[in-house]
Amino acid sequence: MAVEIIETVRSMQARSDAWRSAGETIALVPTMGAFHEAHLSLMREGRRRADRLVVSLFVNPTQFGPGEDYDAYPRDLEADLKAAEGIGLDVLFHPSAGEMYPVGYATSVEVEELTETLCGPSRPGHFRGVATVVAKLFQAVRPHVAVFGEKDFQQLAVIRRMAADLHFDIEIVGVPIVREEDGLAMSSRNMYLSADERKTALSLSRSLDVARRMIADGERGALAIVERLRKEIESAGPCTIDYVSVADPETMAHKTTVDGPVLVVLAVKVGRARLIDNTVVAPPASP
Ligand code: PAF
Repeated sequence: MAVEIIETVRSMQARSDAWRSAGETIALVPTMGAFHEAHLSLMREGRRRADRLVVSLFVNPTQFGPGEDYDAYPRDLEADLKAAEGIGLDVLFHPSAGEMYPVGYATSVEVEELTETLCGPSRPGHFRGVATVVAKLFQAVRPHVAVFGEKDFQQLAVIRRMAADLHFDIEIVGVPIVREEDGLAMSSRNMYLSADERKTALSLSRSLDVARRMIADGERGALAIVERLRKEIESAGPCTIDYVSVADPETMAHKTTVDGPVLVVLAVKVGRARLIDNTVVAPPASP
């Protein structure tokens, strides 16, 4: 059966209110389209957790900075509908930019502290754009549950904070990273990579393996881990490291010592693609 596409906030709200009045629960999976297996895993999780599944598809202009890939971002509604066939979406919410940001629009959501490290400084305004659009999607879809990928670990932390701070009565669910067979974290931006760049990009997941091994072998110095990972990535091929960090998985603050579970997280530009990856590593319990 063809998926129903809803393009306006009012119609989406009316549909969700009808479901809610009938006692049905709603899961929302926010996306920017270009569906791949990782998106499908979020959708399956949403499907499992509620009676109704809404996937939003909106390439959000306010989270892209000047010179970023907003115009180039892949958009192919037909291909996306085909990819999601069999998942059992109830509605694809697919608003236009004018519907989400009408003329005169002047309100945004700023999550402080969590956004001051990692991707925050190199993508000014990015998390404001994300928090704002997700808050608006929550208002449009009125879900009980919303599902996000852990590849965007900092984004997930920002959304959890925003949802708690603004009293959204929505359960925020994180889903583990889905990887290609060779370890590359799935991303819509992987399609920008040439064959050589893809080989270079494998150094990201490989370096996370290195970090896991170093911590298992007793390394507790964050600087030593970061330096080793930078070498691993730089020696793989032409690329520009934005950051490699050992951070606190709750606060996103850079750490100097591995004294509990840490987030090993990195962002690297390979060709046109800005790629991110991460893992949470806990040091083995001392005997
Ligand atoms: O992760 C994404 O695809 C986007 O940042 C999101 C959450 C859909 C908001 O535009």
